[in-house]
Amino acid sequence: MIGPSNSYWNGKHILVTGGASFIGSHLVDSLVAMGSRVTVIDNLSSGTLENLRDSLAKIRFLKMDLEYCALPEIVNAFRDNEIVFHLAATHGGRGYIDSHPADVASNFSIDHHVFEASSEAGVEQVVFASSACVYPPKLQSKVGSDYLLRESDADITDLSKPLSSDLEYGWAKLMGEVQLKSFIKQYGIKGSSVRFVTAYGPRENETHAIIALIYKAFEKMNPFVIWGDGNQERDFTYVSDLVTGSMLAAEKIEDGSAINLGTGRRSSLIDIARMIFDIMDFHPPVKFDLSKPVGVLSRALDISEAQRVLGWEPAVSLKAGLRQTVEWYLATHKTNGGVLERLLVERTP
Ligand SMILES: NC(=O)c1ccc[n+]([C@@H]2O[C@H](COP(=O)([O-])OP(=O)(O)OC[C@H]3O[C@@H](n4cnc5c(N)ncnc54)[C@H](O)[C@@H]3O)[C@@H](O)[C@H]2O)c1
Repeated sequence: MIGPSNSYWNGKHILVTGGASFIGSHLVDSLVAMGSRVTVIDNLSSGTLENLRDSLAKIRFLKMDLEYCALPEIVNAFRDNEIVFHLAATHGGRGYIDSHPADVASNFSIDHHVFEASSEAGVEQVVFASSACVYPPKLQSKVGSDYLLRESDADITDLSKPLSSDLEYGWAKLMGEVQLKSFIKQYGIKGSSVRFVTAYGPRENETHAIIALIYKAFEKMNPFVIWGDGNQERDFTYVSDLVTGSMLAAEKIEDGSAINLGTGRRSSLIDIARMIFDIMDFHPPVKFDLSKPVGVLSRALDISEAQRVLGWEPAVSLKAGLRQTVEWYLATHKTNGGVLERLLVERTP
């Protein structure tokens, strides 16, 4: 397996939109460690400066709203950067995207502003944080399926073919990819779209499944409520693997191609809950809430393109990643004395 190259990143001027986020802040830490000169733009709607604690003194941070700010102001902020990692988005776990369709639709304009500003500011390359939600839900509708989603299942290179995505969030990500490709075609900027599958790790919030399970165990929820029947399957991928994959995509893809970043393995939510119960030594009775949104039933990515084109492999096992995530959660959170349902659907307390 190949990692990001120090000589490529050292001294480069990099802008990270949404850099105060869960994934964005880990990316910023890695870029800073490689000697990049990093600027972060974030409106702190779900990201926090606390996430950037390790790097804040070494970066330029601009609090700016990429949906509402005037374009010339955004262009000015983007100037003198060679690469933009675009992670800013209105986004959250299933409970959030299901209940905030209009908010999520703001990503159509955020993405357009970012691509337009990148192009006008003379940025060389944009890496867009896309999602496995771009794929057709009908390919992900059977529990126990062994189908791995391929890049060609959401083909942005041939717009005469039918497309189908997961909720407004998936459509916005897919159209973000189409928009980026259009700027590449018309203005010659370079770029790629990295299709992250279900991420987890330190700094993620409780709207996402794994952190929600850890939170409920931390609050000793009894009976322990799992959304859906627990059989829904996801390709849970540790955050540091998404960071290395994104950096390699910047190094190796210029033509706007989309590339899957996942593990290619699926786990059911009930199995993840059991692993968390073991790590936290908490074994409550479990109750299933079928009224809650669960999304598609079975999702995992084919990562052969990422292996071939990037030389990338996910390096963190589920067991090790879950343990690190639980350790972070225990070290950084205080009990509320019970589970606040609001925390499971809203990104800020
Ligand atoms: N977490 C996952 O499982 C996952 C999976 C697929 C894709 N993604 C994508 O990865 C990126 C990072 O997601 P994340 O899970 O780390 O956290 P996140 O969704 O909280 O990150 C979004 C960041 O963008 C910022 N932001 C939102 N609107 C903004 C605006 N108008 N102007 C400026 N900044 C704004 C937020 O404050 C936050 O820091 C997002 O684009 C998300 O869609 C995440």
